[in-house]
Amino acid sequence: MLSNSARLDRFLSVRLGIKRGDVRLLLAQKRIEVDGVFATDISQLVGKFSRICLDGEVLTSRQARYLMMNKPAGVVSATKDDKHKTVVDLLSSGEGAGLHIPGRLDFNTTGLLLLTDDGRWSRQLSLPERNIAKVYTALLAQPLDDSYIAAFAAGMYFSYEDVTTRPVILEIISDYVARLRLVEGRYHQIKRMFGRFQNEVLALHRDAIGSVVLDPGLAPGQYRNLTQDEILALAC
Ligand code: URA
Repeated sequence: MLSNSARLDRFLSVRLGIKRGDVRLLLAQKRIEVDGVFATDISQLVGKFSRICLDGEVLTSRQARYLMMNKPAGVVSATKDDKHKTVVDLLSSGEGAGLHIPGRLDFNTTGLLLLTDDGRWSRQLSLPERNIAKVYTALLAQPLDDSYIAAFAAGMYFSYEDVTTRPVILEIISDYVARLRLVEGRYHQIKRMFGRFQNEVLALHRDAIGSVVLDPGLAPGQYRNLTQDEILALAC
């Protein structure tokens, strides 16, 4: 989706994944229409509501897209990766164009992942003052005890970033399973916090972001559009 206005060549090269020189060729071949008129100028400005077609097929949509995916293990939360499959590779062909991922998960972490092309919405999601909680379930290698609850709630100092983590609510579900509720997402945060106890996280799954809960009907790798209520629940 176009934010406000953008040059036509920039829009087309990002949307189609082609070089700007190839965009020039498409225009020369009269294959691009903007609002029903064949485009001739690569620097033409196009806006959020411009209707841009390639060979008669619409490339723009006025609707922003919001997806939830049940991320499987062994897939990178990124739009491109040289070595591994990405979550965007799991989408139907062409569906990933323009999407980004607010709140990535590690390679082997599973569960709720959001994808959108609405940058404003994802920026709102990550505003620290909004305190949007992310809920995870972790399977540990060593048994848990009550000392974890206080340590996670007190926060832990990460010297690399020079920050103390904000309080994390840890609930012991069983000897080896914890549920965690945190309002930030530092690099490998949960694994590093359990690392202080020399307790390896064997599996980590994100259950919810704010009031949006992973749809139990989604098998790993499956995704669906967010409902209007879910989109609004995470918007300011
Ligand atoms: N914390 C982690 O360590 N990994 C994740 O994927 C998310 C939170």
